[in-house]
Formats: sequence, C-alpha cells, structure tokens
Amino acid sequence: MGVLDGKTSLVTGASRGIGKAIALALAKEGSDVALTYAHQPEPAEQVAADIEKLGRKARFYNCNVADPGANDKLVDLLAADFGQIDIVVNNAGITRDRSFLKMDREMWHDVLNVNLTGPAMVIHRLVGQMLERGDGRIVNITSIVGQMGNFGQANYAAAKGGLIALTKTLAREFARKGVTVNAVAPGFIETDMTADVPEAALDKVRELTPMSRLGKPEEVAAAVVFLASPAASFITGEVLSVNGGMYM
Ligand code: NAI
Repeated sequence: MGVLDGKTSLVTGASRGIGKAIALALAKEGSDVALTYAHQPEPAEQVAADIEKLGRKARFYNCNVADPGANDKLVDLLAADFGQIDIVVNNAGITRDRSFLKMDREMWHDVLNVNLTGPAMVIHRLVGQMLERGDGRIVNITSIVGQMGNFGQANYAAAKGGLIALTKTLAREFARKGVTVNAVAPGFIETDMTADVPEAALDKVRELTPMSRLGKPEEVAAAVVFLASPAASFITGEVLSVNGGMYM
C-alpha cells in the first residue's frame, strides 16, 4: 500500500536527475506516471521501464515545455493514455549562466521560457480538469537561487523567484476548489546540472551549508511525495526548502 495508490502523476523533465528521482518516488508510493523529456528518448524510456518494474503504468513523451503546441499535444496524449492527471510536478529546468551585463536577450528568454512560462502553461492546460473534480496537487520545483539570488544567474533567479510568486498566487486562486499548489526549493543537489560547477565553487557551497554537503535527488523527491500525499492536505502556497540549511 502506498500513499499515492490510484493516482496519476505528470513529471516534466523526468529523464534524469531530480525529475527521474521524483518519478520513481511517486511510482514507489503507488502512482502511475507520465514523464516528459526534451532531448534523447532512451533515458526517459529507461525511467518508464523502471517504473513499470515497480508495477505501475508509465508513458514517456517528447515535450519541450516552452513550446505551446507541444504542450497542447501532450495534454491530448495524456487524456488518451491516462484519462485524468491528479498530480503535476513542474520539474523541467535549464540554466544559461553569465554575469548580468554579459547576459544576452536569448539567454534571458530561454531560461524564463523553460523555467517560468513553461510551468505556467502546463498548469493552465491541466488544472481545469482538477478544478472540475475538486481535487489535485501541483508541485513546482523552484530553487534556493529564487529565494536568495546568485551571482551569474539573474535569468534563473528571476525565473525561479517568479515561480514562487506563481505558486502562491495559484494557491490562493485554487484553494477553495481542492487543488493545492506548492513549491520545493532545492539547494545544491548532485545532478548533471551541478556536474559542471567548478570544484572550488562546490567547496564554497559545502562551506556555506550547515550540513556541509550537497543534497541527493532522492531527498528532493521525498519532499515532493509529501506535498503530493494526503498528509499535506492542509498545505498550500508553501515553499519547502531542501537545502541542508544553506538558506533558512
Ligand atoms: P538536469 O539538467 O539534470 O535535468 C533537467 C531535466 O529537464 C532533464 O530531464 C531535461 O531533459 C529536462 N528539460 C530541460 N529543458 C527542457 C524543456 N525545455 N522541456 C522539457 N524538459 C526539459 O537538472 P536537475 O538538476 O535534475 O534539475 C531539475 C530541476 O531542479 C530544475 O528545475 C532545476 O532548476 C531544479 N534545481 C536543481 C538544483 C540542482 O542543484 N541540481 C538546485 C535547485 C533547483
């Protein structure tokens, strides 16, 4: 028996890293899972196969969250393959780092489109059926950078900070209709996204983190499962930090 038995979840950008850990954790708690990926199908196919081994249904879809047409198509495919979606996890995200004066317009728009407009569009398309049923969970993956800013990440910080503001606004709009909207704000987590960060910078992160280490994708996934579960029924508009104490 899992806390999400009978539920269906959508996790964007679930072919690797935090999204993959979230998809697997939701499945371990009994949820069927639809996952999206942006680039190569093979890793997403493997995640779907791992979920099916857990006895849950899984499907994977190529969908750039920043592309309105792709999101429309995804919603049609989800309706055909799963019927309803109970839990939406907006996880897909990118970075294009550069100090602000060197950051060009394209770097700004790419990051805002994927990390902020994308989640808003996904929610816009899927929340209608949740509101009609009077039941649904939305979890947005923001970042510690959206809470405290970070050198060289003006675009990413603005997008993730905007995602927190979107979370709180939609929490207010949907609260009386049974749909909760929360965010999880990871600190620095060991994934491909942080693999390119120079070791000296990671040492600095460890120094600034009371727990003196980076987090693991599974530690972020556990927070998402909690917010998606019946245990979190009276929590909405919350930003749950998973950062080893780096920002509190
Ligand atoms: P990652 O780079 O390992 O994985 C990102 C995933 O998003 C991949 O599956 C990728 O295919 C997908 N993706 C990228 N662009 C996409 C698009 N346009 N449409 C659909 N999917 C797309 O990243 P990671 O580290 O797993 O990050 C996951 C989320 O957690 C992101 O939103 C990130 O901003 C956030 N985060 C990560 C932290 C870290 O330290 N790794 C810290 C705080 C937040």
